[in-house]
Amino acid sequence: MVKLTWENKKDFLKNISKLKSTYRDYYKRIEVIFQKKEVNNKQDRKNMLFWGDNLKVSYHLLNNFEEKIDLIYLDPPFFSGSNYNISVLEGDTKYDSIAYFDCWNKDIDSYLQMLYERIVIFKKLLSKKGSIFIHLDWHASHYIKIILDEIFGKNRFVNEIIWYYYNKYSAGKKNLPRAHDNILVYSKSSDFTFNEERIPRIKPIKQLKRQMVNGVLKNVKDVNGHVIYRTVTDKKLDDVWRIPCLQPASKEWTGFPTQKHHDLLERIIKIGSNKGDLVADFFCGSGTTLMVADKLNRRWIGCDMSEYSIYLTRKRLINIRNNEKKPTNLNSFNEAYAHIDEEKEKIITSGFFEKDLKIKKK
Ligand SMILES: C[S@@+](CC[C@H](N)C(=O)[O-])C[C@H]1O[C@@H](n2cnc3c(N)ncnc32)[C@H](O)[C@@H]1O
Repeated sequence: MVKLTWENKKDFLKNISKLKSTYRDYYKRIEVIFQKKEVNNKQDRKNMLFWGDNLKVSYHLLNNFEEKIDLIYLDPPFFSGSNYNISVLEGDTKYDSIAYFDCWNKDIDSYLQMLYERIVIFKKLLSKKGSIFIHLDWHASHYIKIILDEIFGKNRFVNEIIWYYYNKYSAGKKNLPRAHDNILVYSKSSDFTFNEERIPRIKPIKQLKRQMVNGVLKNVKDVNGHVIYRTVTDKKLDDVWRIPCLQPASKEWTGFPTQKHHDLLERIIKIGSNKGDLVADFFCGSGTTLMVADKLNRRWIGCDMSEYSIYLTRKRLINIRNNEKKPTNLNSFNEAYAHIDEEKEKIITSGFFEKDLKIKKK
């Protein structure tokens, strides 16, 4: 079997029992962001937002969530070589800050190691019917596909979805404009959740009416022996998705750089999970996956190490609950967790999360 190697490639599975117990009590609940009145206190009924490094968070989760997560969506840094800045407006004061880093000094080895060791653990968290959707682009998707073959097995490859964002592209002088991302999909077992999605056709078409007769697909005929046509207005969703990049004019826009379109996440969550399932996003950014999972009555776990990400996700969660016209079917309570070190303590005591910040992409 073909395997990718890089400098200092290692997997931490040998030490997993130790890591699991080291991080068992590492995270403490820092806030109940929202609680519905009729909540019952079952561990698996809560939605959890972690502020911290997702590797440590995944070691922690192995204690209670091994084989419990039904769908994982990952939108990690892409090895783009840029850092993502934001411009923050607080009252009349404006300042620039880094939302997250994606500069690796051209060091693909450490980037691959970063994703490899996480994906190995995320696989352990996936339930038997679970699948993982990993969002990348031309910078590293070709490497990560080989790594996924190694971790999940070539037979667990489901799809490579091309997200064609027709409203934004980066044109170089000597290459065609790049206008798509790649989303690699792998399943934990052969018996995984996969819901077919249908989308409207641009123009309705006439199609022969057919039916299965003794295992063979046959044309349906009328009493005079003529074939029958039907008008079809939709079609099966294929693996090329035409969805725009989110524009600042959208009411969903948070200002977080690389915020993904909610329609993209809606498709992924509908295909890969059912109502009541547990969905996780370990690079949750502005929280798009969690918002959509919530709307679609899935339970969720989110994680990010950037305080701006946690700020925006928390704010979006509070807004959806406040604007909820009809309550969701699930008893849900949303909690935030962190390991409070000196730096986090400083951020919390400065009142950062309660501030009214306006965030703009730089
Ligand atoms: C591409 S953005 C995600 C955007 C998100 N899908 C959205 O719609 O807003 C990647 C995120 O991964 C986070 N991140 C990077 N490395 C991380 C790590 N080791 N642990 C947790 N979060 C991480 C960054 O802070 C950033 O918010």
